[in-house]
Amino acid sequence: MPGFECFDMLATMVALVDPEGHCLQANSALENILAVSRRTLRRGSVLDWLVDPTQMRETLALVASNQVSTSRFDALMRRLPLGTGELPVHVIVNQTEWPDRVLVEMLEIEQQTRLDREERTLGLAQANKELVRNLAHEIKNPLGGIRGAAQLLAMEIDSKELMEYTGVIIHEADRLQALVDRLLAPHRRAQMVGDVNIHEVCERVRSLILAEYPRGLDVERDYDTSIPEFRGDREQLIQAVLNIVHNATQALAERIGAGDARLQLRTRVGRQVTFGRRRFRLALELHIEDNGPGVPEAIRDRIFHPLVSGREGGSGLGLTLAQTFVQQHHGTIECDSAPGRTVFKILIPLP
Ligand SMILES: Nc1ncnc2c1ncn2[C@@H]1O[C@H](COP(=O)(O)OP(=O)(O)OP(=O)(O)O)[C@@H](O)[C@H]1O
Ligand SMILES: [Mg+2]
Repeated sequence: MPGFECFDMLATMVALVDPEGHCLQANSALENILAVSRRTLRRGSVLDWLVDPTQMRETLALVASNQVSTSRFDALMRRLPLGTGELPVHVIVNQTEWPDRVLVEMLEIEQQTRLDREERTLGLAQANKELVRNLAHEIKNPLGGIRGAAQLLAMEIDSKELMEYTGVIIHEADRLQALVDRLLAPHRRAQMVGDVNIHEVCERVRSLILAEYPRGLDVERDYDTSIPEFRGDREQLIQAVLNIVHNATQALAERIGAGDARLQLRTRVGRQVTFGRRRFRLALELHIEDNGPGVPEAIRDRIFHPLVSGREGGSGLGLTLAQTFVQQHHGTIECDSAPGRTVFKILIPLP
């Protein structure tokens, strides 16, 4: 069928079938997801790919006989080779301009919900960032005044007891100032772009962490040395990785004491990776995995939001900053956490 090749560029699965469901054409997403060659797919039927083909059979008949022009339903797809699990998909069956040819489109539901979630997160993160930035500015100005006034007051009074109060005001103002500075930090310094070798970034973080925890923590590395250098800000990426690794070491405190804490830095090249609604041919994947207790359930959806913290004394900014830095490289950070295994994944598109 001329022109069918253009479906190869889609991330959704597409097949052209006849009214009985025999497959005439399949696109590369279908080939990849079912892990079967196009030639094999073309010998089969779309009905064989579904756990329960009843609805597909009925829909094909309706569409082919022009009773409806298009129809949608959810179904379970069999993963081939058979027996390797089932895949929930959203199916769209459409008429075509060719007689007796029906177009079947299948969308991974997981992928769809993931895309929706990513979109929501992105929008929320943007709104949050603006709010925090404005708030930080609003706090910053009067804070200088409060601190100055407390200093003047301290010079006027001789009572030691009262001096203690002014001391508290100055100390707390400084603490708040430091917090505000961190909130505004990613917007203060311009990006310094150069060639970045991700393994240099990892090694730097590794040595800093080993200096801090010389005992009880095993920092493994598993690098794919074929990863090319890319344009980016090395210092920003070191800071991002360091923030993630710091969280891991804090979560691992007990295990570090017991001597069986494990942290792994793993790099890979991902092919045809989708994030932020875009598909990238090549992407760098840096996985930071720890064997700690996992991210507390209650904050799992919100850890990248500013001021969300699950630990005593945490300011909840580490991951917000890390996410901002990685986003400035057109990438994203994802988290997958369960007790005993937490993975933070940094994804950055490669040229
Ligand atoms: N590897 C991890 N294991 C378990 N919990 C984690 C892990 N990484 C992050 N968290 C949870 O996510 C929360 C948010 O992390 P984030 O770095 O943004 O803030 P923080 O560490 O609390 O404070 P800050 O980094 O600003 O000092 C942490 O408080 C912790 O509860
Ligand atoms: Mg942190």
